[in-house]
Order: sequence, then C-alpha cells, then structure tokens
Amino acid sequence: MLVVIKKDYEEVSREAAHIVAGAVRAKPTIVLGLATGSTPLGLYQELIALHRAGSLDFSLATSFNLDEYLGLSPSHPQSFHYFMDQQFFSQVNVPRERIHIPDGTLSGDYDSYCGGYEQSIKSAGGIDLQVLGIGRNGHVGFNEPTSSLASRTRLKALSRETIEDNRHFFASESEMPKCAITMGIGTILDSRRVLLLASGRSKAAAVAKAIEGPITSSVSASALQLHVDVTFIIDEEAAYSLTQRDYYRHVLEMTKIFTPERLT
Ligand code: F6R
Repeated sequence: MLVVIKKDYEEVSREAAHIVAGAVRAKPTIVLGLATGSTPLGLYQELIALHRAGSLDFSLATSFNLDEYLGLSPSHPQSFHYFMDQQFFSQVNVPRERIHIPDGTLSGDYDSYCGGYEQSIKSAGGIDLQVLGIGRNGHVGFNEPTSSLASRTRLKALSRETIEDNRHFFASESEMPKCAITMGIGTILDSRRVLLLASGRSKAAAVAKAIEGPITSSVSASALQLHVDVTFIIDEEAAYSLTQRDYYRHVLEMTKIFTPERLT
C-alpha cells in the first residue's frame, strides 16, 4: 500500500490525474473503474483539461462506474449517469458504447442484471485502474458496513449515514433512493490497481480505519489492505488521524530509489 499525503484537495486531484493520465497513455485500451461524488470532481476537471490540451486521448478506453441509485433514470439530475455525463463524459472522448454505468431503472431480476455487469467487466479484460472515494462510514462504492468482503455487483440497501450525507441533493428525504446497484468489494479487489482519494477532516476517521485498522466488514475500505497495488491519495485533513505519517513519507522517498512493487 502507498499512502500519499498532499497539502490540499487541489494537490490530491492533480496527483490523481497524473497517475490516471499516465495509465491511459501507457495503455490506451485501458479499462477504467470510475466513481461519482464530490471527491473525484477535481480529478475529472484535470483530465478534461489534459484532453482539451490534446495530451490525453480516451478514444480506445472503456469505463465501468461503481454504482447507481436504484429508481433513478439516466436523465434524473441526481443520478450517477447524469453526474458522469455532466462532469466527465460529455467533455472527453470515451466512446459511448464503451461507457458502463449500472442501470438504476431496473425493476426485478436484479441478480441476472448484476451478473451481467460482472460479465461485461470480465469480457472487457478486467478493470485496470479503479478510482474510489470513501464514505464517512468507510464504504467504497455503496458497500455499506457489514458488506461481505467477497461481495460482487448487487443490489444494496443504503445505510442511514449515507442517506444523511446525500439527502441534501434531493428535495426531501422521501425522494432520496434507499437502495443502489453497486460493484462489490470482491469486484473492486479484482481490479489491477486501486486509487482511493479522500479530502477533508470528515473523512479522517474512515481513512485511518481503512489504512491502519483491522480488516473488517464494518469498514469496507479496510479490505483494500488485501490488494497488492493500492494507493491512497489524501490531503492533510483526511490524514489527520493516521499515526504512521512519517513512515508513509519515508516509503514515498524510497520509491525514488526502488520500484513501488518492492516497497508496498
Ligand atoms: C460514488 C461512491 C461512493 C463515494 C463516497 C464518497 O460512486 O461509490 O463510495 O465515493 O460516498 O463520496 P464523496 O466523494 O461525495 O464524499
């Protein structure tokens, strides 16, 4: 695991964009796993700027989003489809037919739909680079506390905390979806590389539990400790509760001499 601590949100976004852009250039046919929410917005802005400047091409890329609210159509302004279109896809050149976002309009036969989503990821060759945010309760995707660490794409009931964190986007709590389709923790762990971004003091407790706590289904992000290639890019505020900050800086210094594979 690499833990990269940056001064603020802007630096987190720039560092993440540097890694994502490097991965796209190294493998133009890359399969990206993407997240919504406020955290990756800066990353998307940076990637859009690189694309506009002519130095980043997504024409051979494929993408799979982590999740979507159940009950929202792609045209609903709070749907993750709408979010991704507004904040990223309408401004870059990922081919439409290679963009995958779970369908929030499903009404039955969830298992076969979710199995199909997993199969599409496999058929595309698996996710090369998965971008994640983290919830205050430690969720990644919508894998709420107590999600199986082996879980796959499925229908998931949202926790009270997640509903509280997101209900202000909706006119009233009754309009806020109570379930979502989400990739599972097992799905995320199958990605070749994982990049988790976090910013702000409200994420500090979850970040510390994910990085330094025991692996537990009570904190889904702690399962990332089982992954061989995970990088946390977090700002000072999100790093606030970590106890081993000097060590993480030392490891990063050493990556200038040794390859990260030897050190993580
Ligand atoms: C979004 C997702 C969620 C968010 C998390 C943090 O697709 O899967 O896990 O990454 O809830 O959200 P923000 O970034 O809004 O704090």
